Amino acid sequence: MKNITELTIEEAKNELEYLAQELAKADVAYYQNDDPYLNDAEYDRLKHRNLDIEARFPELIRADSPSKKVGAKVKSGFSKVSHSFPMLSLGDVFSLEEVEDFIMGVKRFLNTAEDISFMSEPKIDGLSFSARYENGVFVRGATRGDGTTGEDITENLKTIKQLPQKIENAPAVLEIRGEVYMSKADFLELNERYEQNNKKTFANPRNAAAGSLRQLDAKITAERNLSLFAYTWGEVSEKLWTTQEEFFEYLKKWGFPVNPNNKLCHNIKELEDNFNQIMQIRSSLPYDIDGMVYKVNSIALQERLGFLTRTPRWAIAHKFPAEQAITKINNIRIQVGRTGALTPVADLEPINVGGVIVSHATLHNEDELKRKDIRIGDTVIVQRAGDVIPQVVQVVLDKRNPEAKEFEFPHNCPICGAHAIREEDEAVRRCTGGLSCPAQAIERLIHFVSRDAFDIAGLGNKIIEDFYNEKILMNPADIFTLEERNQGGDDLFSTGNGLHLERKEGWGKKSVDNLFKAINEKRKISLPRFIYALGIRQVGTATSLLLAKNYNNFTNFMNDMVAKETAKLVAIDGIGASMATDMVEFFQEPHNLDIIKKLLQHIAVEEFIDTSRNDTPLSGKTVVFTGTLEKMTRAEAKAMAQKAGAKVSGSVSANTDYVVIGAEAGSKATKAKELGISIISEIDFMSLIG
Ligand code: IVH
Repeated sequence: MKNITELTIEEAKNELEYLAQELAKADVAYYQNDDPYLNDAEYDRLKHRNLDIEARFPELIRADSPSKKVGAKVKSGFSKVSHSFPMLSLGDVFSLEEVEDFIMGVKRFLNTAEDISFMSEPKIDGLSFSARYENGVFVRGATRGDGTTGEDITENLKTIKQLPQKIENAPAVLEIRGEVYMSKADFLELNERYEQNNKKTFANPRNAAAGSLRQLDAKITAERNLSLFAYTWGEVSEKLWTTQEEFFEYLKKWGFPVNPNNKLCHNIKELEDNFNQIMQIRSSLPYDIDGMVYKVNSIALQERLGFLTRTPRWAIAHKFPAEQAITKINNIRIQVGRTGALTPVADLEPINVGGVIVSHATLHNEDELKRKDIRIGDTVIVQRAGDVIPQVVQVVLDKRNPEAKEFEFPHNCPICGAHAIREEDEAVRRCTGGLSCPAQAIERLIHFVSRDAFDIAGLGNKIIEDFYNEKILMNPADIFTLEERNQGGDDLFSTGNGLHLERKEGWGKKSVDNLFKAINEKRKISLPRFIYALGIRQVGTATSLLLAKNYNNFTNFMNDMVAKETAKLVAIDGIGASMATDMVEFFQEPHNLDIIKKLLQHIAVEEFIDTSRNDTPLSGKTVVFTGTLEKMTRAEAKAMAQKAGAKVSGSVSANTDYVVIGAEAGSKATKAKELGISIISEIDFMSLIG
């Protein structure tokens, strides 16, 4: 290759053309086809050569020059990966008593009095990943996402040297899961570098790890030092291990980093000692941990225990005590939530609590405020535990300023002025303004587009608020007419001129198009997401899933709610009377029905099909258990039935398919007989589920 100083202008021009083509080809191969065409060193060499020639002949810089591309962002977003085996989270406990309760629960479920061994593992504060190997070759990496669908981070994971690209003597399909993290030292160094370059720094190592891993340009990931620990598995074609301990041996053999502080404990005393010991060395570990994870060591027992909606029954996270700090309350104000609840919030003198800057804390409710006697101007202890909103623990009375002012809890909504009423047995005071209260309407919109609901990323909180205030979006149904109203036609002011969002400050054609694209992708929605998005009081993601499983399609569910069919609702295992009342009430409100009707003109709610298990004799069937079972506990029997695709109900009705009777079965068995429902024994049940 010719020295740059010797190039003629003609040669330089030709070479720049060649470099532009080669580098563009390399980008497509790398970013779009996951099939690199140049190795990294060669790619960098060509990029530098291009820069050097341009430096000498600035007049030859091409419009499509590789030097103009920032990080070659070819993909518009991550592609999605659906997890063949869901990525679960863990239940949290904060005290030894709760750990004991958890272990008791496990023993009760398994009907055993013997000690159970647990693997105790530091809980790494990072970002979970799943890495899939087919015939020993790493083929796909994913983030957890919502547990069912994650983002494709294959290229990003490839840049982490600790992740083996090839493994030997592995099952044909093997998904290894664990945590990607940034060490404390790498985090400090990265932030220092950013600070020097006047870039925004990261709040903590976890954010830095997330920001580095979820980069469309994997080259950026490669520049950041990320590390990982492996700790569990997803889909596997052949499970070679019988205990968690043995699984770690395989991981080590295959070359995955395994935390050196994982320890097998044989009873609660050993768990406790280990917890205290790790807490002692916590600050000297090179990475952040926020507690310990306990997992039943035997895989056979894990399988018997199975899962709740989002968490396994066989594992729990024992979190370290919350971190605390002392600061001052500058002001107390009221926040109005989606369901109208008035929540007092403290504005604090910003303070660093265990590595995170905290400037607000929740004061929960009226009674809590009185009980703790919290006043404006007080010096207080605040604490932060995990991802929860910081709380005020107590007032430091020695430091009470005589000027500190008591807060008068309003009896009117500070946003819309409507009466705020506190029902007799409720702790919260609620605004009665309903959807005419802007705070409630905005919070409902925010909930509607949130991650577990419609998940429309382009509609952030600030945009929703602005759009609401400008009467562009007043309710969820308006989202789906936005594009039509923008084009011309009718806006909400009926000017007939259209909204023309692209003319708004901060918007342009491209961002408006992207927003419409994001909205249009959500015109088809799953049933659990849709139910959750409605924002019914007490109905979270787990309940929404339960409802979807029991009603299968939205019309069934809505008709029953409108007809106040509470009996059927409360018969569902996991739904109580107060929740049922909230659901029925939601559907008695004409405004809610009106919005649902409008929504359904623009979107399709998919039927819920429980695909994982439509091949067992119990799939879709409703089962009732009665009497004392002998071979297993009631809890285990219920879990087995659900695992086989059945719905478990607490009462016998015409919809019941099987009644499983144990010893001393009473009225339920009689009723089943009257209704002519199949009555089966525990043994029959076990053979049905195989
Ligand atoms: S096991 C079914 N083990 O904690 C079991 N999780 O709060 C699923 N985590 O999503 C997880 N260290 O991101 C497991 N040793 C460990 C862990 C760990 C950190 C994270 C993980 C998980 C979250 C649950």
